[in-house]
Amino acid sequence: MSEKRVIKSYVLRAGRMSTGQKAAYDKLKDVHCIPYDEKPIDFKRIFPDLDDFFLEIGFGMGDVTHAIAEENPQKGYIGIEVHKPGVGKLLAEIEKKGLKNLKAIEHDAVEVLRNMIPDGSLSGIHVFFPDPWHKKKHNKRRLIQPELTSLLAAKLKRGGYLYAVSDWEDYAEQILDVFSGEKSLKNKYEGWAEPQEWRSQTKFERKGLKKDHLIREVFFEKI
Ligand SMILES: C[S@@+](CC[C@H](N)C(=O)[O-])C[C@H]1O[C@@H](n2cnc3c(N)ncnc32)[C@H](O)[C@@H]1O
Repeated sequence: MSEKRVIKSYVLRAGRMSTGQKAAYDKLKDVHCIPYDEKPIDFKRIFPDLDDFFLEIGFGMGDVTHAIAEENPQKGYIGIEVHKPGVGKLLAEIEKKGLKNLKAIEHDAVEVLRNMIPDGSLSGIHVFFPDPWHKKKHNKRRLIQPELTSLLAAKLKRGGYLYAVSDWEDYAEQILDVFSGEKSLKNKYEGWAEPQEWRSQTKFERKGLKKDHLIREVFFEKI
């Protein structure tokens, strides 16, 4: 990306943390979080026994994040989120389950991607239910745009995947279009992807389903 992205895809609200989330955050932040830094991270130093690394952007309360990491102890995961209560919740789960293959970064994912993730280092990227910013005048805040997609694609190894899910029809269409327009990516499916069985339901997915929203999955691979 040529210039710094100034429009953020989130608004930081002083969200209330539960006592448990706050206690977990205070106690575990230095144990299970990777501090934001403007230097590339060394995945092999973070996960010395692992070879395959995955990123999740905007994990929310992280319920799916720790479930996937628990199912795949031979793979290394980093979840990125700006919402402190969600970070606290995920840290508590990492500790409770004793997960050695999952770390969190509490920072803007766009800056993390730009400054911390080496090109060609990831086997997969997950973006589950990104904020839809559904009012027309807010659409520019949507995370998935062509520039960010090029950045995401650059971080993938050849054969690595970019997997996004949305319950917001016109955002899902935008994601499919934008991914289709990125020359280094190829759709694994014809149009919408099949639901990936290894992904359980997220909190925002449950909210969408209660409103009868259709869940759309998009799954591309780096060529
Ligand atoms: C609609 S929620 C979905 C959360 C979760 N993936 C789920 O499906 O339940 C979107 C999340 O993305 C986070 N987010 C948005 N932009 C972000 C960014 N640039 N960096 C990190 N997190 C971001 C928000 O804080 C929010 O928690």
